[in-house]
Amino acid sequence: MLLHLAQQHPDSNIVGLEISNRCLVRAEERIVKRSLHNVRVIHAPAETALNHLFAPDSLSEVHINFPDPWFKSRHEHRRLMQRSTVDVIINRLKPGARLYLATDIIEYAEMSAELLAETPQLDNVLDTPWTSAVPGRTPTKYEQKARREGRDCYFFIYQRNDQPGPAIPVIKEMVMPHVVLESPLSFEAIQDAFEPIEHNEPDLHINVQYVYQGKRALLFETHVKEPTIDQRVALNLLTRDTPGELTLQLSMLGHPRPTAGVHAAANLIADWLLSLHPDTRIIKRKTRSTED
Ligand SMILES: C[S@@+](CC[C@H](N)C(=O)[O-])C[C@H]1O[C@@H](n2cnc3c(N)ncnc32)[C@H](O)[C@@H]1O
Repeated sequence: MLLHLAQQHPDSNIVGLEISNRCLVRAEERIVKRSLHNVRVIHAPAETALNHLFAPDSLSEVHINFPDPWFKSRHEHRRLMQRSTVDVIINRLKPGARLYLATDIIEYAEMSAELLAETPQLDNVLDTPWTSAVPGRTPTKYEQKARREGRDCYFFIYQRNDQPGPAIPVIKEMVMPHVVLESPLSFEAIQDAFEPIEHNEPDLHINVQYVYQGKRALLFETHVKEPTIDQRVALNLLTRDTPGELTLQLSMLGHPRPTAGVHAAANLIADWLLSLHPDTRIIKRKTRSTED
């Protein structure tokens, strides 16, 4: 469908969002084979891309095709169709722009119908909450499979009206966290003292899980989960030219984004280092909470 959209709308820019690398590679091969220049695919959860990459009032259409259902209630937060995603979609859609949703799971259709009906910024284009066929629609690969296997499909078409929705600005890029410390402790002593550090706030989960030692660095493997982005990052503690001085900074491994949560993780590690020895002190701390 992505490629059809690109072919049907040569003057529009089409962006596909996927978390499966296999699907991305396949899509990219087809894009190149068909010499399409107005379509790109991004390896990112849709929620993250919508919050971080697209401006308010910038999208003419959003197509959600057969999202994973995440049936179990403990996995509910992973469901794409939830209030926070619908809110960012309505913020990113231009007035008059459309949201298309397709699913082959009746429970998902019912849940989505309820959610969309509770969204005054979207008008249902259909006379019913959903329809079982959309004339002229190009079926997706999964849709063809669902039909072959005898499953019904449920299609939704909603249109953005001009009622104001929640203001959801694009998440701003931040500077890299950077902490300079003075410590009498060796890397061995720091590594020996290490226990996983967990920090939970309603909208932030940080878990400093492991520490690894190299010649000139200790690497803290850290999970940082924020509402719009979930990252596994490495924070490096590096020796400096001045003996006893150390720098804590974000490793560029995997190109992490220096979000507020990553800054909070750097602060957490810096504070833990401070707690290890009374002669440890912070020389410079360039992290979000101290800058703001
Ligand atoms: C049932 S398949 C449907 C595939 C395709 N859209 C189609 O209709 O043929 C669900 C797809 O959604 C992708 N996916 C799951 N969660 C996602 C998310 N948060 N953001 C982007 N893609 C996601 C999965 O990798 C998978 O390829």
